[in-house]
Formats: sequence, C-alpha cells, structure tokens
Amino acid sequence: MSLIDKVVAAVTPPESDQARKDARAKAQAAAGAGDWLSLVLNHHMQIESAFAAVKAARDAGSRVAAQKKLAVLLTGHSNAEESVLYPALVRADEKSHATMAYTEQAAAKTQMAELENLAPMSQDYLDKLEHIRGAVAHHVYEEEGTWFPELRQKAPAADQIKLTQRYKEEFDRYVGSDEIREERRASRSGT
Ligand SMILES: [Fe+2]
Repeated sequence: MSLIDKVVAAVTPPESDQARKDARAKAQAAAGAGDWLSLVLNHHMQIESAFAAVKAARDAGSRVAAQKKLAVLLTGHSNAEESVLYPALVRADEKSHATMAYTEQAAAKTQMAELENLAPMSQDYLDKLEHIRGAVAHHVYEEEGTWFPELRQKAPAADQIKLTQRYKEEFDRYVGSDEIREERRASRSGT
C-alpha cells in the first residue's frame, strides 16, 4: 500500500473534537494580526464552512455549485501551502512534517477529483465527501496543533514577513483577493 493509499484509507480523524479545538486555540495564540498563520486559520474555517455547505445542499445543481466553491478554496489554500509554507518547514529542519503534509494534500486532491465522478445526490457521494472532510480535519489538526506553531516560532522575523506576502500572493493568484472576487461577482450578475 502506497503512502497516499494509506492516507486515503484513514476515514475518521483519530483525534477528538476537543483536541482539535485545543489545536486551533494554540495556533490562534501563536498567530499575529494579519500574518500568514492568521490567514491560514481564516482559510481553514472557510474550508470547514464550504464542506458544510456541500453537505447541506438540497438538490444536485446547488450541491455541484457548492462543491466547486469548496474545490477552489481547497486547491488555492493547498497550493499556497505547498509553494510557500511546506518549503519553509523543510528550511526549518522539519522535513518529515513537510513530507507528510504534501502526501496528505495529494491524497485530498485525488479524492476531490473522484468526487466529481459520483452522482451528487447519491449515498456514495456523501460517504466520499465525509471521508475527505475527515482527512482534511486531521490534516488541519496537525498543522494547527504542531507544524505551524513550530514554524511560527522557529523561522526568523524577516522570513515571517516574506511567508505572509508569498502565502497571500499564491492564494490570491488562484482564489482571488476579496476585491477581485467582488468584481467577478458583479460582472457575472451584470451590476
Ligand atoms: Fe492548511
């Protein structure tokens, strides 16, 4: 079994809800106003809401639309982490954390692509969605509880500023900044 297969096979996050809350509190305490870690935490919460919106959708059309929103957020966030933050883990001598992080996100991307092949209102779809949500929740727990607070502590101040700029740049390149998203919405609705 490859490492990606093993990661994909793990359905339920092994840690408790309380452990996940504690991890988030730890990351929030480590974050500074507007820094890369605060952006990451904000995006993690947006991703959690986007998963809930896909599950709550009442018909196929709205479920597919919600799935696309989730996929854009998840891909934009993952790509920014993979281009900026995981290389910083390597630089901070946390190569094993970086390797696990890349592997878990590759597995999530594989599973998100699989989701596109399932009928949106089927039980198989909901099972797959829950599987991905659980895997992402576990990944977020690792980032918030260990990997990122350590990186926030270890990397020098000049690197922290660069990480914030670069993370934001990569995320916005894919997802768009709030202003760009607002312009896109307005042009679609013709206002
Ligand atoms: Fe993340």
